[in-house]
Amino acid sequence: MNAPPPKLEEVKIAVIGLGYVGLPLAVAFGRRFPTLGFDINSKRVGELRSHHDHTLEVSEAELREAAQLDFSDDPAALAGCNVFIITVPTPIDEYKRPDLRPLESASRTVGRAIGRGGIAVYESTVYPGATEEICVPIIERESGLGFNRDFYAGYSPERINPGDKQHRLETIMKVTSGSTPEVADFVDGLYRSIIDAGTHKASSIRVAEAAKVIENTQRDVNIALINELALIFHRLGIDTHEVLEAAGTKWNFLPFRPGLVGGHCIGVDPYYLTHKAQQIGYHPDVILAGRRINDGMGSHVARRVAKLMAQRNLQTAQSDILILGLAFKENCPDLRNTRVVDIVAELRSYNANIHIHDPWVSAREAEEEYGLALIAKPEPGRYDAVILAVSHREFIEIGADGIRALGKPGAVLFDVKRALPRDRVDDCL
Ligand SMILES: NC(=O)c1ccc[n+]([C@@H]2O[C@H](COP(=O)([O-])OP(=O)(O)OC[C@H]3O[C@@H](n4cnc5c(N)ncnc54)[C@H](O)[C@@H]3O)[C@@H](O)[C@H]2O)c1
Repeated sequence: MNAPPPKLEEVKIAVIGLGYVGLPLAVAFGRRFPTLGFDINSKRVGELRSHHDHTLEVSEAELREAAQLDFSDDPAALAGCNVFIITVPTPIDEYKRPDLRPLESASRTVGRAIGRGGIAVYESTVYPGATEEICVPIIERESGLGFNRDFYAGYSPERINPGDKQHRLETIMKVTSGSTPEVADFVDGLYRSIIDAGTHKASSIRVAEAAKVIENTQRDVNIALINELALIFHRLGIDTHEVLEAAGTKWNFLPFRPGLVGGHCIGVDPYYLTHKAQQIGYHPDVILAGRRINDGMGSHVARRVAKLMAQRNLQTAQSDILILGLAFKENCPDLRNTRVVDIVAELRSYNANIHIHDPWVSAREAEEEYGLALIAKPEPGRYDAVILAVSHREFIEIGADGIRALGKPGAVLFDVKRALPRDRVDDCL
């Protein structure tokens, strides 16, 4: 006989991977259900036990309020859990292929802990098919249990946006799915109990997986189109933002802006979809073209800065260039896949000395991840060019004049984000 999934009042949840996605989820579940937050990173578990979240997604008060939430880095603590929610990273490797190792390793952990009637719900972004083709067989192997007989699976993608205090886990509608109709209902009910915005039950796990990956792929391609337009308009001597402002008066013109596309999601997830497409013999054109354009924007910015300097008789070789912002986006400490590093690399190829200042990010992490030494404070009047790469609120507060004062008289000021008044900067995307 098939093992029945647990009833809501019997659930004991384990959230595997306590990062940007897993922690807010563990806190939300930990207010209502016995919940164990599990992470292989003992340091992370230690900081959370002392009610501190360095990602700044969850406050100390919220951590304290989650009365039924515990943390552990010991797999033995997972014994007795009957719902396992997997929120581990899904990065790409140096060849831009999906790196499924964290997902596989988390599935092994779940496989060793899951019992009859248990459910493994994946939240990590993957390609359609990954949950059932890659993860479920690992759980079967490790547990010796039969899929859809002894244990079940679900997929419920995360849509949060690091640093965004308005769109929170509870206020974003959540897509849910399950490996049988009964389990889909269970997964849907479980999430409905914590998500104020409600849920959308997809017809299958593959549909839910595909829905998530195309949300970010659509954004990536849309931004790529605007970036390509910015490249064209720059050559034509037309201000891209003025064009977008004019075109945006049409009701169905989409309000995307040019820029660097970094972060853990938008610049990465499309490769999961293109990987799967290629596996089945379809070679995606549009998606990969978008990726190429977006990945080229950092060096494009650098070349434009170098050209502006040359036009002012400023040498790039041995110049001092200040880059304001290293995080992949404003008002958040997240450095993952930041494309500001492309600006740095291109300018260094001109032998410029690059000084990077970012009050949000950890200097240690910048050093460890990218080998970049941050400066704690820019020196006023020192730089030949200043690039506003990330519009953190601290930079916007000092304004164009304050930022200009960091440069030497006549220095170039380039505004990647178009965050400052156009007539107060020398150029922008
Ligand atoms: N960050 C976002 O805004 C966001 C939004 C939507 C979806 N996602 C997706 O959610 C997933 C997680 O992303 P994130 O940003 O939370 O990642 P993250 O890097 O912030 O956190 C992942 C955590 O998982 C832990 N971990 C890694 N391997 C593990 C294992 N085998 N067992 C237990 N813990 C393990 C790490 O130590 C880390 O604490 C990814 O698939 C991502 O694409 C992220």
